[in-house]
Amino acid sequence: MLDTLKIKADFPIFKNHSDLIYLDNAATSQKPQSVIDRITKFYSSENANVHRGVYPLSEQASEAYDLARKKVADFINAKSAKEIIFTKGTTDSLNLAAASYGLDNLKPDDEVLMSDFEHHSNFLPWKNVCEKTGATLKILNSDDDGSINQKEWQSKLNKKTKIVAIAHASNVLGTINDIKEISAIVHEVGAVLVVDGAQAIPHLQINVQDLDCDFYAFSGHKMLAPMGIGVLYVKEEILSKMFPYQLGGGMIESVSLDEVVYAEYPEKFEAGTPNVAGAIALVSAIDYLSKIGLSEIRSHEIELSEYLLDGLAKIKKVKLLGSAAPSQRTGLVSFSVEGIHAHDLSDYLAKQGLALRAGFHCAQPLHQSRNCGATLRASYYLYNSEKDLEVLLNNLEKAISYYG
Ligand code: ALA
Repeated sequence: MLDTLKIKADFPIFKNHSDLIYLDNAATSQKPQSVIDRITKFYSSENANVHRGVYPLSEQASEAYDLARKKVADFINAKSAKEIIFTKGTTDSLNLAAASYGLDNLKPDDEVLMSDFEHHSNFLPWKNVCEKTGATLKILNSDDDGSINQKEWQSKLNKKTKIVAIAHASNVLGTINDIKEISAIVHEVGAVLVVDGAQAIPHLQINVQDLDCDFYAFSGHKMLAPMGIGVLYVKEEILSKMFPYQLGGGMIESVSLDEVVYAEYPEKFEAGTPNVAGAIALVSAIDYLSKIGLSEIRSHEIELSEYLLDGLAKIKKVKLLGSAAPSQRTGLVSFSVEGIHAHDLSDYLAKQGLALRAGFHCAQPLHQSRNCGATLRASYYLYNSEKDLEVLLNNLEKAISYYG
């Protein structure tokens, strides 16, 4: 287990809220002092716009921004920094993929395949692109544990499938999908694989070349970095088939009244002033995670999942969603309690200092497919301990007897 007391000391939020038991990491993680300091340092002594000025401050900001791109590329083992597009976050990344690739490459007879556990930020952009292009959206139904069985793949994936857009890990079930295996079958029919990595990258070491996905989208804010910075990785051979969906400054070579020459990618897809401080602070977050060790964080979370799943199984009326195997999950468990609304439970728990998310978690189709109402989700990370989960379990029992 990680030394969570030592880790917590690096996160000022816990000093400022000494009673906080933060279990909403799938929504956003807390930020270590090193990340906060990096943002302050940028705005205090390095702030200038990038790729625009020829004075030292602007040149240094440009260098730092370019270096951040290189470091992110190395972190996910992209072949080249050109494959890294900085965005606002996963939603922005997936909208970019759908608009810049989907709109121009889908035709009426084509099919797009997604799962029933997609977050709205993956589901809605592709649904919209299908409606606009006349392509058909097909849904892969997952089993209770969140996996998609062979029969389902065989009956829905075919030569008409042009795009498969799927979460690496579900934000409700926690289930980790085998992207390498999925990419092999998707590429066999000549389709392109788009991966929503928002819930996976904070927990798993991502290697996009090994996964062999064509797009990989993620946010910084769930992996200790600030809000408002994200990434869309795009395999280089796909980049030339994409047209930018946002036009403006910073993404052109030259403009006249009659002609526009766009910049090379990735800048071509980053219209407007980018979030330079965010990109640089994302590198600080990567450094922090790497210092602790992603595999150590993963083992820690598996132990926490084991503890929580065991504890919840002992509480009457609790219905768990997703796999019973801790190793098949990221650090989260969603559940409902028979006869008690998730918002009431969350309200009760909040009064005891416990921060959990309740509702549909931006995945309403999944809740419909499971025929369940709102759920409560506990999501933990490197600074959470068994003690935090013990407090959750004790208070959950109290809440159940209070409302029951
Ligand atoms: N996508 C985030 C969540 O699942 C906000 O909570």
